[in-house]
Amino acid sequence: MNKEILTLEEAAELFNVSVKTFIKLLKEEKVPARKIGREWRFSRQALIEWLSKGESHDYSASEGDTKEYFNEIAPKWEEIRKGYYDESIKNHLVGLGMLNKKMTVIDLGSGNGYISIAVAEYVKKVIAVDISKEMIKELKKNARSNGIKNIDTLESDGLEIPIEDEAVDMVCANMYLHHIEQPEMAIKEINRVLKPQGLIFLSDFYEHNDMELKEKMHDLWPGFNECKIKRWFADNGFSGIKITKVNENVKNTGQTPNVNIFALTANKRL
Ligand SMILES: C[S@@+](CC[C@H](N)C(=O)[O-])C[C@H]1O[C@@H](n2cnc3c(N)ncnc32)[C@H](O)[C@@H]1O
Repeated sequence: MNKEILTLEEAAELFNVSVKTFIKLLKEEKVPARKIGREWRFSRQALIEWLSKGESHDYSASEGDTKEYFNEIAPKWEEIRKGYYDESIKNHLVGLGMLNKKMTVIDLGSGNGYISIAVAEYVKKVIAVDISKEMIKELKKNARSNGIKNIDTLESDGLEIPIEDEAVDMVCANMYLHHIEQPEMAIKEINRVLKPQGLIFLSDFYEHNDMELKEKMHDLWPGFNECKIKRWFADNGFSGIKITKVNENVKNTGQTPNVNIFALTANKRL
């Protein structure tokens, strides 16, 4: 690579790190860069100079906090979860009639298996992906006690799923996206692992202002605006995007009106 002006991807490549790690660095350090319109541009020379002047600095990752939090509360998650949402989301998913016995489905941010356990009987295989080792342990226990044998688990960051391109028929993600600093990166990764025309089911909070809820749950996003999330999916390779309100209010923690939940469905564009 001998260009003088680099894009975000090229700058990450120059540093030999993933784009995700590079974005983190960009946020936490004074990396020489300019945002021109919506695009980042970097001077190759300035980046090399910046790198060579630096001292070792152990920058923190917000995923680290999320992982720690969910590892800690994993044995109590079932109880905590029931305090916020009931069975309606998974019932909604099953009721959509999208699942079938030939499918391999990823449950992203699976936790202790709220979605995995519910869909396992309707599909060939579930791959439960979660960054928290303790959540995965709880999921395995739940699967065992329900006699379910078609759930594989992967302890992994959902932004770098160790699965090849176009490998699965469907990705489900319940209450995952609001833990991701750069949701569009997560959407790109979902797109990557899906077969052409593969399905996404993503449920999360509508944008809210219950900051007590956000703090308590270690959320990075206070839910999502419907137009914005539709645009993110459209911009990252999805079509047929539909959003419906799931018939359930989140149990409110503060003084604000109830927080609602949406379910988004879409197909990977051909
Ligand atoms: C609010 S819980 C939801 C769990 C489950 N989907 C449910 O509905 O009960 C969010 C889950 O996402 C996981 N998570 C957060 N960030 C993640 C990441 N970057 N990659 C994979 N999993 C992540 C957490 O460990 C946690 O288990």
